[in-house]
Amino acid sequence: MITVVGSINLDLIATVDRLPKPGETVPGDAFTTSPGGKGANQALAARRSGADVRMVGGVGRDSFATEALACLRDGGVDLSGVRESHAATGVALIFVEESGENVITIVPGGNGALFPGDVASADIRKGEYVMLQLEVPLETVGAALAATRSVGATSLLNTAPFRAEAAPLLGEADYVIANETEFDLYSNALSLTGDSREQRMLDFAGRTGRIMVVTLGAEGVVAATASELVRAQGLTITPVDTVGAGDTFCGYFAASLELGLPLQDALRRAAVAGSLACLKPGAQPSIPRGEDVEEALKGG
Ligand code: RIB
Repeated sequence: MITVVGSINLDLIATVDRLPKPGETVPGDAFTTSPGGKGANQALAARRSGADVRMVGGVGRDSFATEALACLRDGGVDLSGVRESHAATGVALIFVEESGENVITIVPGGNGALFPGDVASADIRKGEYVMLQLEVPLETVGAALAATRSVGATSLLNTAPFRAEAAPLLGEADYVIANETEFDLYSNALSLTGDSREQRMLDFAGRTGRIMVVTLGAEGVVAATASELVRAQGLTITPVDTVGAGDTFCGYFAASLELGLPLQDALRRAAVAGSLACLKPGAQPSIPRGEDVEEALKGG
């Protein structure tokens, strides 16, 4: 079982030829809505990978909630841990330009009303996996990390979006997953030492005994354990839309570890899934099915 404690959003997406500069207006080509939120995306990715998944999150009592939860519900994610609050359902305002580059603003709404008590009711058990991100209150993330450790479950913390005040939480997770920008920012916040990013990753892993995973976009992914670096590549692709690719990586990585895959294989499977997620627009609609990932893995 994988429990995801995290955000649920409705993504409001405009596609544009190029992203506007501050103060500039650009015409949009198309507008769509799509279920999103880093937590929900990761939950769906783990589910599409084949895992049993439980979502712990918060939505509003509004029509956006129904749409935001539609893919999770259809996909068979257990939604008994999703609570309604008086806040509106979280939204993400997303611009995607032709190159696939994007900018996102999130308005947390009900995600901000997810509290440590919601984690306590999730009944996390020994041997399970718990996936976390930083789009919900940090005290809730901290409570989930503590609960995971106390029962003998395994935690994975995705450090997105960067929040300087979250730096002390990184050493509390069994696996930390960051992109390059986030890792460099947390490196400074944690005063990690070393002349290169990889040395600083090893410094983190050596100090904490945790595994640090850094995604490198087209360059694949690298992980540091206390004793070594492990690398894996995704697919060579031309991205259409990278929204949700990092979440796909996280969900597939958690599910692959839960399956018992060794670190190298889990990284490779997750990186391939992340590559496939860049080939379609939208966060959740682009998350690949397990069989497509296996097919791509066989293809090399
Ligand atoms: O990581 C992508 C997600 O970030 C989007 O689905 C959006 O909701 C934001 O939370």
